[in-house]
Amino acid sequence: MNIKTTLLTVACALALSACGDKSAPSGAETATPPADSAAATPAETTPPAASETAAPAASAAPQAGSKVAVVTDCATEIDSNDAMQYNVNSIVIPASCTDFKITLHHVGKMPVAAMGHNVVITEADDMQEVLADGMAAGLAQDYVKPDDDDVIAHTKMIGGGETTSVSFSVSKLKDGGPYKFFCSFPGHAALMNGTIEVQ
Ligand code: CO
Repeated sequence: MNIKTTLLTVACALALSACGDKSAPSGAETATPPADSAAATPAETTPPAASETAAPAASAAPQAGSKVAVVTDCATEIDSNDAMQYNVNSIVIPASCTDFKITLHHVGKMPVAAMGHNVVITEADDMQEVLADGMAAGLAQDYVKPDDDDVIAHTKMIGGGETTSVSFSVSKLKDGGPYKFFCSFPGHAALMNGTIEVQ
């Protein structure tokens, strides 16, 4: 009996405190504000939750396992990290774009010489050769052979905490393909690569 009474008292106290300025002592009136707040809470949290889950689900739907970059105003921003990863593996450029800009963030902490990342774009068939030539060119050249005709566009090589970007003409990706984007730091492209296409 004592325990039940105590619990009831605590429950009432919690209900009252939750009600804020609604301090009416009667049970009938105190029941109403919690009902309001209970109704308001799901109403406030549901729309953001729904939109947050709906957007990635919708964009990821076409290809299972693909992480499509968010494109806004003919530009995208992608992340790279100390675990040798990009946060996306697909970039779709709207065909209406004349130029396209890719901004690369390195959200890790490791220096460029140990965990450098860039973004290099080539035809898929040219990727391995560009990687080999880039490795020979070395870090001083951002692991990209200077004036490599097979390189459609590339950023500089960056380390943790840095950001870089590159802009290029979309017309360069409209004939041929398929095209890839990847990091040319030795060994990274096995994990750090994705498809880039114009649609
Ligand atoms: Co890298």
